[in-house]
Order: sequence, then C-alpha cells, then structure tokens
Amino acid sequence: MNVLGIESSCDETSAAVLSEGILKSNLIASQDFHKKYGGVVPELSSRAHLQIIVPLVKDSLRKAQTDLREIDVVAATAGPGLIGALLVGLSFAKGLAFSAHKKFVPVNHIEGHIFSGFLMEKKPEFPYLCLVISGGHTLLLIVKSDTEIIKLGTTVDDAAGEAFDKVAKLLGLDYPGGPLIQKLAMKGNPKKIKFPVAQLKNPYDFSFSGLKTAVLRFKQKEYGVNEKIPESDLPDITASFQYAVVEALTQKVLKALHEFNVKSISVVGGVAANSSIRSSIEEIGNKFGKSVVIPDLQFCGDNAAMIAYRGMQLVKAGVNFPFNYNAFPSLKKSYLRFWKT
Ligand code: KG4
Ligand code: ZN
Repeated sequence: MNVLGIESSCDETSAAVLSEGILKSNLIASQDFHKKYGGVVPELSSRAHLQIIVPLVKDSLRKAQTDLREIDVVAATAGPGLIGALLVGLSFAKGLAFSAHKKFVPVNHIEGHIFSGFLMEKKPEFPYLCLVISGGHTLLLIVKSDTEIIKLGTTVDDAAGEAFDKVAKLLGLDYPGGPLIQKLAMKGNPKKIKFPVAQLKNPYDFSFSGLKTAVLRFKQKEYGVNEKIPESDLPDITASFQYAVVEALTQKVLKALHEFNVKSISVVGGVAANSSIRSSIEEIGNKFGKSVVIPDLQFCGDNAAMIAYRGMQLVKAGVNFPFNYNAFPSLKKSYLRFWKT
C-alpha cells in the first residue's frame, strides 16, 4: 500500500510518502515568520499553507521516486487544529484523491502523534503507555491496539508545550519557547528555585497554569513588574521551570507503571523533543525494565509521516470514510470511535 500523507493543522506544512510501511519521504515546511508575532497567526498560517502545499507534495513524491499514479491512499489531517489551516490540507487532499481516483482517509492529528513511535526502527509493543505532549495537548494513555486507546488523564488547563511557550514569553524569549528554554536550562541549576507541581483529583490529570503563574510571581517579586530579567539569571529560572514540568510528567508516568502492566513507554508530540524529558523517561524505562520509544526529532513535531502511518493503519483496520465526509462536525465521532474513557 502506497500512502501520501498531508499535514497542515498548525504552522507546519508537511507531505510524506509511505510505501508498504516504509517511509520514502517526509518533507516539512515550517512557518518561521510567526516568531515576530509571538505566536501563530491563524490567517497567515492558512495563506502560507496554500502557497506551499502544491510544490511540497510534488517534491515529496519526487523525493520518494514515485508519482501520483503509484499512490493508493491519500491521508490528511482532519483535526484538531486551526480551522483555516486544516481546510487547506484537507480540501487539497480530498480534491487530489477524488480527481485521481484514490482512497481518501481523514486522520486525527493526535492519533497521528500517538502512533508516531511506529515510524522508528524499534517500535512500541502493545499495550504501551503513551504520553502525548504537544503545543495543544497533554494526554496520558494506554494504547492497547491500533484501534483501542484508553485515556488515563489529560490537562485541565494549559498543554505542556503551551506552558513552555507562555513561560518563554514572560521571560522575554521568542516563540516557540520550548527549544529556547531547553537551551538555556542546560547551563542552569534545576534546583535553584522551587516551582510547584500540581496535584489533582484525578491523579493522572495535569495542570500547568499554576506553574506558569508561579514563574510570573517569581519574576514580579525578584525584578519588579516591568523590569527585564538579567540574562545571567535565565539559565537557573528556565532549568527550575523545566525541572517542575519534568517532575509533573514523570510522576504520572511512574504512577501508571505501578498500576498498569504495559510493555513499552512512548513519549510523543513536539515537547517529546526535550532532552531532559527524553533522558528522564529513558531512565524510568530502564528502572522498570520497559522498552522506551521516543521518536526522532523529525517525528516529534508536526509531520506528515505520522499522518500517512495512521492513514495506513485505518485502511488496514477497514475504516472507510465517504468523500462527502465533513471533518468538522463528524470528527468528534471518528475521534471517539477509538477512545474509551
Ligand atoms: O506537536 P507540535 O509540533 O505541535 C502541536 O501539535 O501542538 O508541538 C509544538 C510544541 C511547542 O509548544 C514547542 O514549544 C514545543 O512543542 N517544543 C518543545 C521543544 N521543542 C518543541 N518543548 C520543550 N522542549 C523542546 N525541545
Ligand atoms: Zn502536533
């Protein structure tokens, strides 16, 4: 089965070709210009997707040394994401599939992330504990099979990546804040400032808004409301913040490992690129004798390889989507069909 995957849910346009489960190309065009606005501007994102999608898909097919005639399935992200951005990739994919008589599969973006570990040589083993940490979502799941996912917990406020981005902003750093915080934190002392780790009614839920407020209060107390933080203080502040995030995530992972008999641990999503999170989870995996699968960086952030992979899984599972499938109202249903809470 040859699958063309298309992703356009936020600020990355991506096109990938997966042939018989083997990745042939995965091109990702990032919209770096959002930096100057301090976050993603939805309308500008849609326009940029529109400009690049055709050449990107062509390049991806070329890189895979194939052409549209060889493709059997077109899989595209149907949500969740920015509506205008999604519409570009989804409408393009539908049009392409319809005109070229290909099977069309709408893919849930989070499901794409959840199974992204299968793009690696060492794959997760079912059932696996999956920590989804991205800019928009934070979820702790048990993935029992291709079509059975149990949700243990989620965030009650900000997503993990959102916390990195918002804290970076209040520290005067650029967007996206995650990589910049990681870089500064490498030179800092993570135990210098004690930031809080939220404890919630559902022990598997997450909350990051209190941590964000704690960093804000710390800044206001130490430097005054409008003062800039001296650059020399940033390593300790970022390291202490990152330490609190890692604590919040690993506490839940440890609890789940004590309670559920899983075979592997997989950490996915943009924030899974964080080196401190990666090494902490590797350490936990070693301690518990579980295999750990954290995708390579190209598969952590948004990418079409994971969409193509999930599309292939859905086709193999016998899921059919009509061409007049309207992603937005019915997405919830397709999303929920694989979720048991
Ligand atoms: O999965 P993703 O590319 O997009 C969404 O689906 O949301 O995740 C983007 C998020 C951003 O919040 C970004 O700051 C964060 O991933 N991120 C990181 C790192 N690299 C990206 N957060 C912490 N450390 C990193 N190294
Ligand atoms: Zn994502």
